[in-house]
Amino acid sequence: MTRPNLQIALDHSDLPNALKDVKEVGDIVDILEVGTILCLQAGEEAIRCIRALYPNKKVVADTKCADAGGTVAANCRMAGADWMTVICCATVPTMSAAAKEIEEVQVELYGDWTYEQAQKWLDAGISQAIYHQSRDALLAGETWGEKDLVKVKRLIEMGFRVSVTGGLTVETLQLFEGIDVYTFITGRGITGAEKPKEAAQAFQDEIRRIWG
Ligand code: 5RP
Repeated sequence: MTRPNLQIALDHSDLPNALKDVKEVGDIVDILEVGTILCLQAGEEAIRCIRALYPNKKVVADTKCADAGGTVAANCRMAGADWMTVICCATVPTMSAAAKEIEEVQVELYGDWTYEQAQKWLDAGISQAIYHQSRDALLAGETWGEKDLVKVKRLIEMGFRVSVTGGLTVETLQLFEGIDVYTFITGRGITGAEKPKEAAQAFQDEIRRIWG
């Protein structure tokens, strides 16, 4: 079992505040995400700035792309992103078109999806999935639990590298002990903390405590 990565999701509504936070925690985390909100507000410029600040880190554009996969992926790549996300209801041709233009595509699992669809993504060469509790589901009272662990484990068994995200706290991580999670993606757990740098370090310390 390998130690999971820690990914910061920059879901800021403006670029200056995103840059302020990423400069505090960029050296602590493993992967930098231009979050969906920031993509919509300042997409290309945000990717360019973060790539310039961290030339050696993986940068993900969380576009949650639903169509025009090839064009969106080429634009993200040219701005400096290594990976991008597509939404699980996108067609396989959209995902495949994106995958031709950028190093890796990650499928964001929201709402309804099936393991049959997931097998088709694998067959198309897409082997990263993001298991998500949406902000809105969490607001409606959802919590992380056994039902999520079952799905994460099955996706890993199928052959996916699975990232986990949505309202994660340091305390949530222990739920996943013994599971080969690829990456924990955290936004507000770090950026919403009084001291983001210490919060990012606390996530890394807990990952190291659990996964070694
Ligand atoms: C929302 C996202 C978020 O970037 C991700 O879930 C992390 O957010 P948070 O830790 O703040 O819940 O993809 O669609």
